[in-house]
Amino acid sequence: MKNVDLVIRGGKIVSPDRIIEASVAIDGERIVAVGHDDVMPSATREMRADGLYLLPGAIDSHVHFRDPGYPHKENWQTGSAAAACGGVTTVFDMPNTNPATGTREALAMKLKAAERSFCDFGIHALFGDETVHLLEDLLDAGATSFKAFVGNTFGNLPAPTDGALLEGFEKLAPLGIRTVVHAENSSIMARRQKALQEAGRIDAQAHLDARPAVAEIEAIGRVLTLAEWTGARVHIAHHSAADSLYLLRAAKARGVDVTAETCPQYLLLNTDDILRLGGILRVNPPVREPRHNQPLWEALMDGTLDMIATDHAPHTPEEKTRESIWACDCGFPGVETQMPLMLTQVNRQRATLMDYVKWSAVAPAKAWGLYGTKGVIAVGAHADIAFVDMAQTGTLSQGRLKSISKLSPWHDRAVQGYPVHTLLRGRFVMQHGKLMEEAITHGCSVKGIQAMPLPQPRNQQHYTSAILTPPPGVRPNALPAAEVER
Ligand code: NCD
Ligand code: ZN
Repeated sequence: MKNVDLVIRGGKIVSPDRIIEASVAIDGERIVAVGHDDVMPSATREMRADGLYLLPGAIDSHVHFRDPGYPHKENWQTGSAAAACGGVTTVFDMPNTNPATGTREALAMKLKAAERSFCDFGIHALFGDETVHLLEDLLDAGATSFKAFVGNTFGNLPAPTDGALLEGFEKLAPLGIRTVVHAENSSIMARRQKALQEAGRIDAQAHLDARPAVAEIEAIGRVLTLAEWTGARVHIAHHSAADSLYLLRAAKARGVDVTAETCPQYLLLNTDDILRLGGILRVNPPVREPRHNQPLWEALMDGTLDMIATDHAPHTPEEKTRESIWACDCGFPGVETQMPLMLTQVNRQRATLMDYVKWSAVAPAKAWGLYGTKGVIAVGAHADIAFVDMAQTGTLSQGRLKSISKLSPWHDRAVQGYPVHTLLRGRFVMQHGKLMEEAITHGCSVKGIQAMPLPQPRNQQHYTSAILTPPPGVRPNALPAAEVER
């Protein structure tokens, strides 16, 4: 029998329901065996992963790689390098590039830019009044999904009217295509911002005052009404407020196919940090008062929020530090720091590694129709693996970011738990924290995977050949006691 390409021995494989010590065999792009050391096929290359956890590569549903249009902020190569170094193997890129991803031509430009990617990708195309008649066309040209900027944000793309939202949802519902929604009410925010500006406010807090939680509540409520009416699948981007969670809970209970992401900044930062960071932390929706942090965490724990995304939104230091808050561009890089930040919370025992894998990989894989091929370490799946060292400690440093725009609200933050190697479809794109430059041109669109019918959850059946259970008395997710403070 022919050798397989790679066997990884000694690692602990994490899925949402258990952690098992098992070996993994990889041939070409896929996992061909998972099980006991003794039953692994012979391999051209052997690797030990003792002490490391093997997680399905993270899937980030929300990045802005700025390509084409804003090469001084980021490009596809630097953005995807940041992803690879952050343990992220698949990203979904947002359409507020220049040109916006709302025509076949613009989509072709983006796919061209993405040819030199260190991670796999999906493309959210633009959903707006101008593109609602083009949705099928954009899918045909390679879009995996759509994004509706219901609240104004970087790029100043006009919010779709309610009529266009309804019409687009009617078109997409029978196709099963999910639309990401930036859910803030534009009219509330425009009026508030104007009043604040007229009152001479230029401080960082004014940004939050212009975008109160009710803007998010109203927009989520409206989008869920239209989604429920049409049966369209929707995804709430960067959920920021504790006060709008009740809408998600109720809609999910009624069977609306809504998924939702939150980001590390809404879980771990709040208005105390705005005072410290000013424009660096300006982001849409805004980071809110401390009272929002814990309810958002609980919503992740109970499944109201499905996943972690980053809203990786780089801008240059000059664009982030202007005197007036209104002149500071909104957003900051995040795709590279998400995993260490969240693993630190696991080390603090706020969640288990199994919870984390659900939020970082399984839920997004399911939301975008990739589960089975991605989001799981099992036979038949892509060999997309983040090797994680839960003991490694360090300090996040913006100077070391792969992004072009090196200004991060996470700068100087102590973390414990790092991705140390990243495998993308059987090839290392990051090893020992270092980008594998020669791996470039390896990333592919997930469009083809998505076109296949949703596979059934397959975890269980694939461990049957050589099932391994944790030794008696060992909690499967037992981790060293927390050592790191926030
Ligand atoms: C994003 C950007 O810069 O593209 N900015 C942000 O504040 N989140 C746009 C967005 O996702 O809203
Ligand atoms: Zn947004």
